[in-house]
Amino acid sequence: MENKSGNISRRDFVVRTALGGAGAVIANELVNSQLLAAAPKTVASTMIGVPFDARERVRLGIIGLGGRGTSLLRDLLAVDGVYVKAVCDLVPEKVEHAQKMVTDAGQPKPAAFTKGEWDFKNLNQLDLDIVYIATPWNWHVPMAVDVMKNGKHAAVEVPAATTLQECWDLVNTSEATRKHCVILENCCYGSSEMLVLQMVRDGAFGEISHAEGAYLHDLRSILTANEGEGLWRRFPHMQRNGNLYPTHGLGPVAHYLDIHRGDRFDYMVSISSLEASLSAYVKEHFPEGDPKRSEKYVCGDMNTSIIKTVKGRTILLQHDVVNPRPYSRLNMIQGTKGVFADYPARIFMDGQKDEEWQTIDAFKDKYEHPLWKNNGEMARKTGGHGGMDYIMNFRLMDCLKRGLVPDIDVYDAAAWSAPTPLSEASVQASGAPQKFPDFTRDHWKTRTEADRFAG
Ligand SMILES: NC(=O)c1ccc[n+]([C@@H]2O[C@H](COP(=O)([O-])OP(=O)(O)OC[C@H]3O[C@@H](n4cnc5c(N)ncnc54)[C@H](O)[C@@H]3O)[C@@H](O)[C@H]2O)c1
Repeated sequence: MENKSGNISRRDFVVRTALGGAGAVIANELVNSQLLAAAPKTVASTMIGVPFDARERVRLGIIGLGGRGTSLLRDLLAVDGVYVKAVCDLVPEKVEHAQKMVTDAGQPKPAAFTKGEWDFKNLNQLDLDIVYIATPWNWHVPMAVDVMKNGKHAAVEVPAATTLQECWDLVNTSEATRKHCVILENCCYGSSEMLVLQMVRDGAFGEISHAEGAYLHDLRSILTANEGEGLWRRFPHMQRNGNLYPTHGLGPVAHYLDIHRGDRFDYMVSISSLEASLSAYVKEHFPEGDPKRSEKYVCGDMNTSIIKTVKGRTILLQHDVVNPRPYSRLNMIQGTKGVFADYPARIFMDGQKDEEWQTIDAFKDKYEHPLWKNNGEMARKTGGHGGMDYIMNFRLMDCLKRGLVPDIDVYDAAAWSAPTPLSEASVQASGAPQKFPDFTRDHWKTRTEADRFAG
């Protein structure tokens, strides 16, 4: 894949781009998945618990100014002390639009990088503190690695990586450069998720045995559009059969279960249903002769995985982006004293008179997270996805300014992204268990309370 100087060859790049990060890498990925479960040797020490250097101002660059990058930019411009110094996209109009957003917010015009697929490398030469990456999945790792090698922290959209080798590339580079690689998992900052986390920490649910997370979202029109994600996000459905988008469901649940903070994903099994819905949609919506009609989708409509943690807890993880249905991330947690389930948010506590769900309203006063108490109004006004995007960006910038340990680190980015290759390998092997690599190299056992998620 990489030439001697560590760069991806032109041929491999073309293959990766055309296949949305899948394709040629997959065959090797499956062969190597067991081998890669062992941690590569390294001399660098862990990034667990390593704080940012404190600074008054954050100088920031953004690569990728499509739907997501533009939304992140809007949130970041609303946070005090954040200066957007550089913006990069293949499409000059998107960069001009971003520049205008920055100047409209009263900041100097940021430097623009629009000269092709590798121009981000020039952005990475600037004096910046952190670079946000909101590009198609196959670009996340080459970009984040280059960001860190050039002495900046990286903040990567989800999923951070699409193969186990890419997961290790992020971990190894973060440890070697001493720069953080944060995955921008906004769902960890949802108001329900943070409230539930407070309840878990208070012991309200007792001892936790099981959790559920998912990405169940009808993306058929987006996947088949002739713009935005329609230009790249459908292609993995032709190459990979598994959970292509695991982190929205898994990130919040990982915090409930103290993953990398006393527990760890051990292994997972995965089974996919048949494929039916995306091909049916394409036949129904595109005329005879449209090239989309000859595409062959291999990703099963519903992928269902079960993860077992080292402490013995189970996590149900599902992925379905092609069936007609209301949105859900499941977001469920079961303990000896009660259960919470989302969509809609509801709760049942041991000893309740009736065997019926109650709303979470009664728990808000006691358990609303301080980040939401203090910033909820601004978040709801400014941020996308009900405000959780603003809370995530506000918190990351606050950690940078105050010199705190980031809430989410490279080990979380790797472990939450790993279910894509692991589910694919398990599906191919009729549901056989696949071991998670210990990306922390045994440090998950020793992490202190002081650097747990969001204080
Ligand atoms: N966290 C969330 O809620 C959320 C929501 C949507 C998307 N995402 C993630 O954000 C990322 C981007 O998604 P999107 O919806 O904005 O997609 P998009 O297609 O709208 O935008 C991607 C942008 O990246 C640009 N790009 C592609 N290759 C580039 C390169 N080499 N250099 C510079 N720019 C390049 C494209 O021109 C495009 O403008 C994806 O990883 C996606 O999974 C996350």
